[in-house]
Amino acid sequence: MLKVSFLSNSLKAKTVIQALLHYPRASSMGDRLLSNSLSRFLSVESTRVFLFNSGRMALYSFLKSLGLKAGDEIIVPGYTCVVVTNAIKYLEATAVYADIDEGDLNINLDKILKAVSPKTKAIVISHNFGIPFKHIDEIKTKYPDIVIIEDAAHVMGSNFKGRSVGTLGDAAFFSFEYSKPITTGMGGALLINNPRYMTPGFIEYFNSLIYPGNSQKIRIIIGLLIYSINGGRIASLAKRILTGVARRSGLLVMTSSHELTGSFPPNYPSRLDPLLGYIGYCQMRSIHEITKHKRMLAEAYREIFAGLPNIRQFYGAETVYVRYPVVYKGGKDRNYLIARMVKETGIDVGEWFNDVVHPRGSCRYCYSDGQCPVGEGISRTILNFPVSLHLPVEYLRQKREKIREIMYE
Ligand SMILES: Cc1ncc(COP(=O)(O)O)c(C=O)c1O
Repeated sequence: MLKVSFLSNSLKAKTVIQALLHYPRASSMGDRLLSNSLSRFLSVESTRVFLFNSGRMALYSFLKSLGLKAGDEIIVPGYTCVVVTNAIKYLEATAVYADIDEGDLNINLDKILKAVSPKTKAIVISHNFGIPFKHIDEIKTKYPDIVIIEDAAHVMGSNFKGRSVGTLGDAAFFSFEYSKPITTGMGGALLINNPRYMTPGFIEYFNSLIYPGNSQKIRIIIGLLIYSINGGRIASLAKRILTGVARRSGLLVMTSSHELTGSFPPNYPSRLDPLLGYIGYCQMRSIHEITKHKRMLAEAYREIFAGLPNIRQFYGAETVYVRYPVVYKGGKDRNYLIARMVKETGIDVGEWFNDVVHPRGSCRYCYSDGQCPVGEGISRTILNFPVSLHLPVEYLRQKREKIREIMYE
C-alpha cells in the first residue's frame, strides 16, 4: 500500500525546479518579487515589508530596533515557540507569559491586562494555527504606547472582520519555514504597519545585514526538494530513505541545537536569499488556490469531527489554518493515536505545540512550571491535522469513518 504524507505547506517539487531554471531572474530579484506579492496580498505598501532568513530573525530585529534595555518586559503567550522567547532573551529583556484562552488557543485578553506593568514595552500576540486573535484594537486603545507585534508565523490568508491578519498590530512577522503555508525552507517577513516604527535606524540596520552563504542556500534547496517530493503519494520505503538521508545530512534542520538551549546561533540575523525568495514568490502566485483549498479541508475536518464528544474544534470561516487543531479529551495515549492515524489513514497528525515553550525540553526562558495552566494542558492534549494542496479533499472524505473510529473508539 502507498503511504501518504501530507505536508503542511503546498510546495511542489516543480516550483523549486522552476526557480532553478529561471536562475538569473530568481537570484537577482526573487526577494523583491516576493515582497511585492506579499504587499499586494495583504494590501500594504511594499516598502513596509522586510524579508529575513526566518520569522524569528524578523522578530529579533524589530525588537532590537525598539532599543530595549535589561529589565524591559515583553508579554508573550503561554503557548509559544522557543525561538520567540529566545529573541527576547538575546536582547536581555524579560519575557512575561500570559496564559492562553481555551476557546481559541490564543493569548487571553484578561491575562494580558493583568500582566501589563510600567516596564511593559511590547506584546507578542500570536494567531495560533492561523486563528485570529480578536482583541488587538482594544489593547491598542487602552495602551497606545505598548508596541503590539503580531506573531503571524502560522498565518497566510486569515481575516478578522474583513482585515488581513498581520495588518492589525504595529508590526507583524510571518514565517516561511518548511511547515508553513508558503515556504522558502527557512525564511520570514517583517511587516511594519505603524509608520512610527519605520525608523531610519531600523532601515540602516536591515540594509547592513548579510545574506546566508551559498552552502546554506544549496542545503535548503535540496531540503526543499526532498520535502516536496515527500509530500506526495510515495512508497513508504522511499519516503523513509529520503527522510533519513535529509535528517542525517542536516538538510532539514529547522531549529538549531543552539536555539533549543537558548544560546545565540550563527548567521543570526540575516536576510532572505533572493533565489529562496523566488520560490516563495512562485507559491504566492497560487495563494488564492492554496487558501481556497485550505478552507475546503477545514470545512471537511469540521464535518468529520462534528458530534464527537471527546474532540474540541476551533473552526472559523475566516480562518486559514496552518494545520487543523483539535483538543483530544478521550482516554487514549496521544502517541498511540498519532501512530494509528498514520498507519490506517496515511494522514500525518502532529502534536505541536507540545509544551508552553515548544518543543518540549527546550529553554523555557523566564517560565516556571504552573504559570500558564491552560497552555500546559493544551500542550498535552493538542493534535493537529494537515491542511495543504498535497491533501485532496476527496481523500479526506474517504477516510472520514476511519478517522472518527480512531478518535472515538
Ligand atoms: C508561533 C510561531 N512563532 C514563530 C515561529 C518562528 O518562525 P521561524 O521558524 O520562521 O523563525 C514559529 C515557528 O516556526 C512559530 O510556530
